[in-house]
Amino acid sequence: MNKKLLEIKNLTVTFKTDEGLFNAVEDVSFHIERGEIVGLVGESGCGKSVTALSILRLIPSPPGSIKSGSIIFRDKDLLKLDPKEVRKIRGRAVSMIFQEPLAALSPLQRIGQQMVEVLQLHGSIKKKDAWRISESWLEKVKISDAGERMYAYPFQLSGGMQQRIMIAMALMLEPDLIIADEPTTALDVTIQAQVFKLIREMRQEESSILLITHDMGVIWEMCDRVIVMYASRVVEEGSVSDIFSRPAHPYTKGLLKSIPKLSVEAGRLEAISGYVPSPFHYPSGCHFRDRCPHAFKRCSEETPPFVDLTHNHKAACYIADKIISNTQIIANNT
Ligand SMILES: Nc1ncnc2c1ncn2[C@@H]1O[C@H](COP(=O)(O)OP(=O)(O)OP(=O)(O)O)[C@@H](O)[C@H]1O
Ligand SMILES: [Mg+2]
Repeated sequence: MNKKLLEIKNLTVTFKTDEGLFNAVEDVSFHIERGEIVGLVGESGCGKSVTALSILRLIPSPPGSIKSGSIIFRDKDLLKLDPKEVRKIRGRAVSMIFQEPLAALSPLQRIGQQMVEVLQLHGSIKKKDAWRISESWLEKVKISDAGERMYAYPFQLSGGMQQRIMIAMALMLEPDLIIADEPTTALDVTIQAQVFKLIREMRQEESSILLITHDMGVIWEMCDRVIVMYASRVVEEGSVSDIFSRPAHPYTKGLLKSIPKLSVEAGRLEAISGYVPSPFHYPSGCHFRDRCPHAFKRCSEETPPFVDLTHNHKAACYIADKIISNTQIIANNT
């Protein structure tokens, strides 16, 4: 059996706005294996959500357009399927947990009714059975008084409860791939931890998760592998231990230094200097070069290709091997 559940190859997504045309995602490639939790991390605007929405073919068009690439899911290219086939996959085989639960739940329908509809849309199931299954999922995600909550409207529930309901709805069809796009940003820290635990526990053993976040702490807690994006491109990919102990791209190093606990000089928050450029003004060559302490002439001339470091660890930087060995020296000295 093919171990790869999803493989994105050379995905480029453009948006056409009043200001002009830009690449929101450029030549992005990565894969997710069965049962794997893969983190997609990077600063705001780097293209994480656009990548996720492309998988489900949810890019609004216009203004968006998937310009090139392929998204192979269980041996089929999702970008070539007709809309009817895509709808069948959405929710059933691939489900998404959005950042804002209220955006995903219908405000005018009771929770129970919404859940029953999801179940009935994807399988021939009697309403009574669908109601019973929905209620049991509310219990699984630890909603108290599940029977009564089935009759509630979303606005009658707290943010944490809405989030749990969305997770129940995303998981109850037992999807092969769960895409969680910043699923806990709107929640307070204690609930965040519970929600992650829940997603991990509730998923089927073989189901995979693409977890999108800009929080390296969450990546450390949850993921097996990490994809780091910067300004529309993937800049590094590796196992969690590779990324945390042997980062090879200057941007990844900067991200790690911005976590106080992991900083070499503990207590000092060392953020990456400068700002993420607007997509209309990404620099030539390496998109990170303007902010990179190691940039040299070649970085502005061509896009650095990926350098393979160790098994499944690669970084798009001309001096990736020097950066990695430098980090090891620092790690050995501390
Ligand atoms: N519907 C849209 N119309 C125009 N531009 C868009 C649209 N959606 C996204 N973009 C642009 O595409 C780029 C990538 O956006 P995306 O939402 O993928 O960022 P992100 O990495 O998810 O950021 P965040 O961490 O803030 O959620 C950004 O420049 C964004 O402004
Ligand atoms: Mg986003």
